[in-house]
Amino acid sequence: MLFLLLLLLPFRELCCPGESTAAPQPLGSHHPAAEEPLSFRMLQISSFANHSWVNTQGSGWLGELQTHSWDNIVRTIRFLRPWSKGDFSKQELKNLQALLQLYLRGFAKEVQTFVNQFQFEYPFEVQISAGCKMQAGKASEFFINGAYQGSDFLSFQGSFWVPSPAAGSRAQNVCKVLNHYRDIKEIVQSMFGHTCPRFLAGLLVAGKSELERQVKPEAWVSSGPNPRPGHLLLVCHVSGFYPKPVWVRWMRGEQEQVGTQHSDLLPNADGTWYLRATLDVAAGEAAGLSCRVKHSSLRGHDIIIHWGGYSILLILICLTIVVTLVMLVVVDSSFKKQCSNWNFISPHVSSAAFPMGANTQDTRSSGRQLCLAQELWIINRFLKKWKTSLKQIW
Ligand SMILES: *[C@@H]1O[C@H](CO)[C@@H](O)[C@H](O)[C@H]1NC(C)=O
Repeated sequence: MLFLLLLLLPFRELCCPGESTAAPQPLGSHHPAAEEPLSFRMLQISSFANHSWVNTQGSGWLGELQTHSWDNIVRTIRFLRPWSKGDFSKQELKNLQALLQLYLRGFAKEVQTFVNQFQFEYPFEVQISAGCKMQAGKASEFFINGAYQGSDFLSFQGSFWVPSPAAGSRAQNVCKVLNHYRDIKEIVQSMFGHTCPRFLAGLLVAGKSELERQVKPEAWVSSGPNPRPGHLLLVCHVSGFYPKPVWVRWMRGEQEQVGTQHSDLLPNADGTWYLRATLDVAAGEAAGLSCRVKHSSLRGHDIIIHWGGYSILLILICLTIVVTLVMLVVVDSSFKKQCSNWNFISPHVSSAAFPMGANTQDTRSSGRQLCLAQELWIINRFLKKWKTSLKQIW
C-alpha cells in the first residue's frame, strides 16, 4: 500500500487551501429538479485481463451529465464542458490531476499484487463510483461504492469499509485489510467530504445557465409493429427536452388511457432527453385518441397530437392551396368564356367590315390573341402589385 503514502503528498496541497472556505452552501436554488439530490461522481472501470494488462476508464459526472473524462494516453483530465473546471484554480486542478495519476497507477499495481491473496480470477473487472451529493439545506454526504465482476462488493460507511452482503468472504477479507489503513480513510474523508463538495458547488455556479436551461420537446406519433391481429400499437415520440422530468400519456379527450407504457428515458447526444409512450388498442378504437405532453418548458401549454388527425397548420395550408386553386380555375374559366364570346361575336362584327370567307379564321385568331394579351396584362398587374406589397413588408 505504498502508493497511498504517495497520494498524501499532492493531496495535502489540494485539500488544505480550500479547507477553511469549504463550508458547502445550500444549493437548492441552483437546480430545478430539487427533489433529486445533486451529485458529482467519479466513475472508474478497470479491466484486468492478465497479470500484466489492465485498462482503466475514468469519467466525471454532474448528476447525469458527463463533465469530465480521463485521457489514458496523456494521463490528464479532459474538461468536457466550458464550465467543467468549476471555480478551482489552475494549481488546484494540477494537483487533482497529479493525485489521479498516482491513484490510477497505484490502484492497478496494488490490485495485481493482491490478486492471489484475495483470489481474484482473470479476467475481471472492478468498478468504482465515488463522489458527493448535496440537498438543499442539508450537509453534504459522500459515497464510495465498489463492484467486482458487475456486482456490489464493498462501500465506505461512516469511517469504515463495509463488505456488501452478497459479496461473500472475499469482500470481508478486502475490507478487513483496507480498514487497517488509517491514511486511506483520512484521504477518502478529506477528498470526498471536503474537496468534492467544494468542487461541486463551483460546478453548479459555473454551469448554472446550462443546468437551468429549458428546452421544449418535439412530439410526433407513429404506429409500431402490430402487437396482435386487429390491434394497433400507437407510439408517441417525445424528444429534445430538458430538464428530464416529463409527463406523456395517451388520452381520449380528458381521460388518461391506463394502458400507456413508457420507454426508458434515453439521452440525446446534446444532453436533452427522449421518451416513447405506447398504447396497444383495438384497430377500431384508435380514432379520437391523442398523445398529450406536459413539460416545464411548455409553461402549461401542453402538446396534444391527435392520432390520425392533422395539425391545424396543415389544415390551414391545405385550405389555402385549395382556395387558391379554385380561384385560379374560376378566373381562368371566366377569361375563356369572355374570349369565346369574343370569338363568337367577332365574325358578325367583322362581317360588316370584311367580306365573309377565308378571312374569318384570321379574325378569330386575332381576337384570341387580344384575349391572351388582356389576360397577361392582368396577371402582370397583379404580380406587380404583389411585389410592391411584399417590398413594403420587408
Ligand atoms: C494479456 O492480455 C492482453 C489483452 O487481452 C493480451 O494482449 C496479452 O497478450 C496478455 N498477456 C499475457 C502475458 O497473457
